[in-house]
Amino acid sequence: MLKEKGFEVEVASTNGPVARADLLGKVKGIDALLSLLTDRIDAEVFEAAGPSLKIVANYAVGFDNIDVSEAKKRGVLVSFTPYADRVIEPVAEHAMLLILAVAKKLIAADKFVRDGHYKGFDPNLFLGEGIGGKILGIVGLGRIGSHLAKIARGFDLKILYSDERRNEKIERELGLGFTDLETLLKTSDFISLHVPLLPQTKHLIDSSKLLLMKPTAILINTSRGPVVDEKALAKALQEGTIAGAGLDVYEFEPQLTEGLTDLPNVVLTPHTASSTVEARFAMSRMCAENIIAALEGKTPPNLVEV
Ligand code: GLV
Ligand code: GLV
Repeated sequence: MLKEKGFEVEVASTNGPVARADLLGKVKGIDALLSLLTDRIDAEVFEAAGPSLKIVANYAVGFDNIDVSEAKKRGVLVSFTPYADRVIEPVAEHAMLLILAVAKKLIAADKFVRDGHYKGFDPNLFLGEGIGGKILGIVGLGRIGSHLAKIARGFDLKILYSDERRNEKIERELGLGFTDLETLLKTSDFISLHVPLLPQTKHLIDSSKLLLMKPTAILINTSRGPVVDEKALAKALQEGTIAGAGLDVYEFEPQLTEGLTDLPNVVLTPHTASSTVEARFAMSRMCAENIIAALEGKTPPNLVEV
């Protein structure tokens, strides 16, 4: 799309994170930057790019990797992609997938069969936790949290949520219970986090919050790693403070807290919750549309408003 418009486009040679030095070296004099959530876009990057930079189009649902106030100060627009078609659903589906995978010990069971250990039906083999009739606590009832609530109803889960703002409309529509975070943590069998990473949500789940949870509780995080104190979580899992966890994001990703991979009661995925063909295509398109609008002097449709 960008090339069709006649723009000169340079694409990083790697699919994953770009080395900081390469990013800083390449941005000089550019008009637009399409960034990934792994690129920290701060004053240093804006400085290196210079005054030609008009827009940073973040290929992500979140925008915590961008210093938005710095962008604003310099008159650089910032866009993101949470409203791309079918981007929210896979994240909620992934949260549900992790609930099921941890509760039913899916990964260990698959390995057991592959490794040739399956010798016949055994009523006590991989005893899991039932899902139907249990309580799911959703922390943060935004678009992803709401979609998870919708899906979870199909599993006959009772659903509680906590949020800064009560949403009585969705509450009524989906039959949810609104409560405070502490009560949610104390009562839920499954807890799924759907808050953005902000200074006030960093370590929202720390050792004291983990202690509130039931010893049978399973914690799911598909939001941002630093929302959970990962060292405290690893300890809680080792000591049986809670029963299990399903993680798609990590506090210091791609690094993992020591001991996390040795735990049998966790399922770990590499920040792939939104990774579907449909979502990635829609996110790419949306980034291109925002860049094109900005460079044509129009208002991009998906600006981060702060
Ligand atoms: C993924 O975490 C995203 O923000 O798109
Ligand atoms: C299991 O396959 C059963 O029939 O209970």
